[in-house]
Amino acid sequence: MQRVVAATLLLRWIADLRDAAVALAQIMAKGRASARAPLKLPVMRILGIESSCDETGVALVQTTGEALPRLLSHALYSQIDMHQAYGGVVPELASRDHIRRVLPLTRQVLAEAGATLADIDVVAYTRGPGLAGALLVGSGVACALAASLGKPVLGVHHLEGHLLSPFLSADPPEFPFIALLVSGGHTQLMRVDGVGRYALLGETIDDAAGEAFDKSAKLMGLPYPGGPGLSRLAEQGNPAAYKLPRPLLHSGDLDFSFAGLKTAVLTQSQKIGPAAHTEGTTERADLAASTQAAIVEVLVKKSMNALKTSGMKRLVVAGGVGANRELRAQLNAACAKAQVRVHYPELHLCTDNGAMIAMAAAMRLQAGAQQAEARYSFDVKPRWPLHELA
Ligand code: KG4
Ligand code: ZN
Repeated sequence: MQRVVAATLLLRWIADLRDAAVALAQIMAKGRASARAPLKLPVMRILGIESSCDETGVALVQTTGEALPRLLSHALYSQIDMHQAYGGVVPELASRDHIRRVLPLTRQVLAEAGATLADIDVVAYTRGPGLAGALLVGSGVACALAASLGKPVLGVHHLEGHLLSPFLSADPPEFPFIALLVSGGHTQLMRVDGVGRYALLGETIDDAAGEAFDKSAKLMGLPYPGGPGLSRLAEQGNPAAYKLPRPLLHSGDLDFSFAGLKTAVLTQSQKIGPAAHTEGTTERADLAASTQAAIVEVLVKKSMNALKTSGMKRLVVAGGVGANRELRAQLNAACAKAQVRVHYPELHLCTDNGAMIAMAAAMRLQAGAQQAEARYSFDVKPRWPLHELA
């Protein structure tokens, strides 16, 4: 009951914030017709705010003409410790914590870039997909901030942020490419011909790869989110110790399915007994290595199939699971053999962050795919397929 009351209060607070932003925007718009004009600045500074799940991320990116945008500074607060006690993300706690973190992080980002609020040209925020309450915090703050500064806003698709995050790396890709997007909520193969030009080639029909890592890790007694812990444990285990299914490996299409793998891991761990979730046992390390091997093999095989059927010679990996060492090692080997260039985001930018949101906004603006607008009434899109973006 308490949680329902708290959730109601939170949503009311957010609605108030939204009303305030709209009211402020109307006042500002009267005196600032110029803010509606399309942006044609040679140098633009874009503040990005990410709050779709359990990380509050803020970043400042600068564009200069048509050159690749540059990250000036970024700051991140991860709520993982707070959610760990519950074994997963508690949406209501996530929203409240975003409220606490977003302004201090914004101050930090500006200070580290040697900038002030007046230097911001556009405020970008994650519009979806994600947790509704969490998205509302970032969107509300972004729109209120932009309204008070008289600057335009731009709502960004979280997955486009992941997809374009490798452009922030020391080895940025070039269009076109095949993208393997592997996050906690999505597993997709896409053909990417440019900013906003995404064609879905295949996706998971049930659990995402990140979910498979997280759910299997939980069965092994590892804390949330299980992906990083499982992959560390796997380094000490034998990947051939247990025979686990490779779902849809030979399906002939580019779809994935990981729900059956989680069930197989459960069955195998029941056969093993307590050793499957006891720290320090060989069985647990072997089970982790076998699980990782099954997930990685499917991801690599399907990515290579996508490259082969499309004739493309460039692969871009993005999303939290893209941080997985074994996945990177096997993709590197397979791509070297097939003479394919493979690109990843910097390790610290694989999971959610503000830099990818500011970057996606910057690239959309540069490509003319979207205009930032001085319209401060906002909505969020908790469910939002990437191909609907165009
Ligand atoms: O992209 P992300 O930060 O959030 C979503 O947009 O969903 O991805 C989080 C997912 C989690 O499932 C997490 O366990 C997984 O990425 N992950 C990893 C690794 N690091 C993060 N999975 C496997 N190995 C890793 N090293
Ligand atoms: Zn994400």
